[in-house]
This record gives sequence, C-alpha cells and structure tokens, in this order.
Amino acid sequence: VRIVESAGELSALAEAERVAGRRIALVPTMGALHAGHLSLVAEARRRADRVWVSIFVNPAQFDDPGDLARYPRSLEADLAACRAAGVDLVFAPPAREMYPAGAATWVGVDALCEPLCGRSRPGHFRGVTTVVAKLLAAARPHVAVFGQKDFQQLVLIRRMVRDLLLGVEIVAAPIVREADGLASSSRNATLDPEARRQAVALSRALDVAERALAGGETRTAALLERVRAEIGAASRAELDYAELRDPDSLEPAPDVLRGPALLALAVRFRTAEGGAAARVRLIDNRVLVPPAGHGADP
Ligand code: PAF
Repeated sequence: VRIVESAGELSALAEAERVAGRRIALVPTMGALHAGHLSLVAEARRRADRVWVSIFVNPAQFDDPGDLARYPRSLEADLAACRAAGVDLVFAPPAREMYPAGAATWVGVDALCEPLCGRSRPGHFRGVTTVVAKLLAAARPHVAVFGQKDFQQLVLIRRMVRDLLLGVEIVAAPIVREADGLASSSRNATLDPEARRQAVALSRALDVAERALAGGETRTAALLERVRAEIGAASRAELDYAELRDPDSLEPAPDVLRGPALLALAVRFRTAEGGAAARVRLIDNRVLVPPAGHGADP
C-alpha cells in the first residue's frame, strides 16, 4: 500500500488515475480501523479500480479536547489492515497539511447540523464537512463511501456535495455490528468490560422499537418511551438523545408514523479509564418502516 502525506502529491496521483481512465473510491476515516471500516473498503472495491483510504484524526470536529486526546490512534495496525484488505493508497496527512497556517475557510451546512448530535456537540459537523470537502478536493474521487452509523453525517455530506456541485457519488454502507449487536465503533475499545457489556442497550432499544412498530404501535411518543426504558435499565448509561426524525430532512417525525422514520440514539456510558471516571459517547440508529396498513397513504 502506498502511503501519501502530502495533499499535492495525492492530487497529482488522482490526476494520473483519471487520465488513465481509472475510477477512484475514497474511504475517509479517522483510523483505529475496525470491521465497519473494512466493510466500507469492500464496498469501495466493488465500485472502483482504485481504493484509497484517508486516515486523519480531524481536530476540528472534536468539541471536547479530552475526547480528542482519548481518541484511539493505531497507524501501524491500520496500515497492516489496509494492506490485508487490498487498499491501494493510504492518505495520512499531518494536521498542517489539512489546516495550513492561517487556514480561515470553513464549510458548514445550515439547519441539518443543528438537531441530534449537533445539539450536544457544537461545531462538530462544521469540522466534519470542512475536512471532508478538503479530502474530496485533494483526492478527487469518483465515489466516496461512508457508514450509515453516522447517519446525520451522511445526510450532511450528501447535502454539501449537492450544494457545492462537487460531482462525487456518495455511497452509504450498512452498519456492521459485533456479535451481541453493538454497532462497530472505534470508541468501543475505550469502554471498560462492564460498560462494554451494558452498551448493547443501544441496539436492544432499536430492536424494542422495531418490534413495537411491527406490532402496530405507530405513536412516536410511545415508541420513544420504550426506547428510553430500555436505555434506562443500563445503570452506566446516560441518554443524550432518542429521537424519531425524517430520514431525509431530519425534521421531527409526526406524532403517528406513516412512513419511514429514523430512530437515532446517543448514549454516554460511564467507564473507568486508567482509574479515573470517564464518559464514552456511543451512537446508533435504524430506519423504521411502519407495517403495511400503517404506511404512506396510497
Ligand atoms: O466518520 C468519520 O470517521 C469522520 O467523521 C470523517 C468522515 C472521516 C471525517 O473526519
């Protein structure tokens, strides 16, 4: 696998691939690669001749310096995983390459960045869309692959690409889960064993809501009540939000569901880290579809 640190070199390589008529797929990551990332790489491989992975822990998307410091970093292991997965190139720039001295340009998507994670992580999405815009500008991929676990991020990136006429196809890959149902995340490794055991409450809560909806419970408030009860049963969990929203506009879902709705969850788990108490924030989501007869008007 070729390792590139300079955005200029990456752009020159992109130009050469395009001139040769080859399609490039980019998988943007912050490293600490797990099964979820590798599924994005596999999706990228299906859609392009060249698979490029970027590894950059983007300081601009961390609202909490402690969270940035704690974020797992494992470049050597990540490079080995990329090699094994047949990745052609890894772009691993230093921070000064992505944010040159005096950098003053930000890319933000209004409104869509406000609800859900935007409320408890001010500035987070502006950091995400800014760095993704830079990565797309430097790598000039035909396709970029993102995971559905970060559903709001995906919606924002699609909107940014559309609004800025970036001409990149954005592909969404399904959530990959560990054996007990917990969504794969680089943060899972930072949970102590008890918090890790309890973290399955997120996917259980999604299952509970899905089953209730399948059983005919279409009232938003009743569905959310069941979700909150499931999360509340985990003693280490502190609910950040549980919301039902429109999967495209992220507007709040109606009081009674008649069409697909995004159930999005964020939960902080109290965990012991090096003897000190810390909180690890996990997210999960599922698009719920009301059963036939409760669905969209004919
Ligand atoms: O999803 C992530 O890992 C990050 O938000 C991304 C898209 C790589 C931007 O830093």
